[in-house]
Amino acid sequence: MDKIVICGGNKLKGEVVISGSKNSALPILFASLLTDEPAVINNVPSLDDVSTTLLSLSFIGKKIIKRGNTVEVYSSDSRTYKHRAPYDLVSKMRASILIMGPLLARLKKVDVSLPGGCAIGARPIDIHLEAFKKMGAEFSIEGGCVKTHARDGLRGNTTINLRFPSVGATENVLLAAVLVEGKTTIVNAACEPEIEDLAIVLNKMGAKVTGAGTKNVVIEGVSELHGFEHEVIPDRIEAATYMVAAAITKGEIILKKVIPQHLKSINDKFKKSGLYIKESDRTIYVKWIKDLEPQNIKTGAYPEFPTDVQAQWMTLMCLINGKSSIKEDVFENRFLHVNELRRLGADISIDDKIVNIKGVKKFSGAPVIMSDLRAGAALILAGLAACGTTTVSRIYHLDRGYEMLEKKMKKLGADIKRICD
Ligand code: UD1
Repeated sequence: MDKIVICGGNKLKGEVVISGSKNSALPILFASLLTDEPAVINNVPSLDDVSTTLLSLSFIGKKIIKRGNTVEVYSSDSRTYKHRAPYDLVSKMRASILIMGPLLARLKKVDVSLPGGCAIGARPIDIHLEAFKKMGAEFSIEGGCVKTHARDGLRGNTTINLRFPSVGATENVLLAAVLVEGKTTIVNAACEPEIEDLAIVLNKMGAKVTGAGTKNVVIEGVSELHGFEHEVIPDRIEAATYMVAAAITKGEIILKKVIPQHLKSINDKFKKSGLYIKESDRTIYVKWIKDLEPQNIKTGAYPEFPTDVQAQWMTLMCLINGKSSIKEDVFENRFLHVNELRRLGADISIDDKIVNIKGVKKFSGAPVIMSDLRAGAALILAGLAACGTTTVSRIYHLDRGYEMLEKKMKKLGADIKRICD
């Protein structure tokens, strides 16, 4: 299995172009199932999760052409679509559950294996299923597979009140409701920029979605949707990861092709800690100018601090003099990186949902293991700051969500390489 080896201590300096957002690209790719006309999607990052999505689309019946970061999706006839996602694809990526919305709307039934993905908690799909039940679908779970059926088609004129603003459930309902007759209202919807990006695509296809990006989303169903061309928004989580890289190595990085307002909660915390940040239209300039101050954070649904940056932030706080805390309020088991950070010298204690950190002067390089995608990013960042060599294994997690990470880090001055065992 491949490993990443990092000799820490180099200050990162230079420019990095942020890739398209993984979490935006995936639902937009699944939106192509809503039409038989061509879809052209630009700025799609080359990642394992994208490959898994393209395999799922091909399995269902789409033809895919990928040229660099552009994906073209074609189909012959939706009547020939398969109405299921196989276990070997769904087990690799939780977002595969997003085939449910479009296929329920178009084919009235869909079988999806129970999803996998990052090992960060139970991650059930009850909110998705409750929403589809409200829209008239029935479901049963047989042999590790959710079989969903809307015998008379999905119903509109419904209000769906999500008990938690789940990103995936909001997207799944959107992906179904656009083709359901009548008005569907999502209350307590997720407000993430990726939801807005998906709604823009759906409206380009002819859908009538209003309020995306707020807690109340209204969808007036239409009978048919059309092809589209779209450029995926930049990956705010990747951007935040490079900002931590600048801060933790006392460096200076210009992030290109970002949308600064998508990073507001993160930038506010960075600024409070004393990191110099200058934002302009599509650029963020980050410079370490003085020792940073510890900051407490609590993760939450957008616009709060994103859970996907919690692990990277923790790595940074571990090396800041003083005490800080992190409360993880989105996932129930997202501290798997703590033990690995301790191996490098971190002083962290866990009390249920809260982590307390006492800053240490330095990390010492050691072999560590990734448990999930963002924990993996946290360990890479730790390696960049550590004295000596850090060897990170199980890096397949990283390949799910970071495009050309070693190449980008190397260009910024990191001593990092991938080795094959
Ligand atoms: C998406 C993101 C992921 C991010 C997460 C939270 C994608 C592809 N992934 O994941 O990177 O970490 O949002 O911002 O966009 N929950 C339930 N029942 C459900 C659905 C969710 O209990 O039916 C719980 C989850 O276990 C979790 C919380 O709700 O505790 C948030 O999950 P959700 O917002 O659905 O995350 P994903 O869409 O899976």
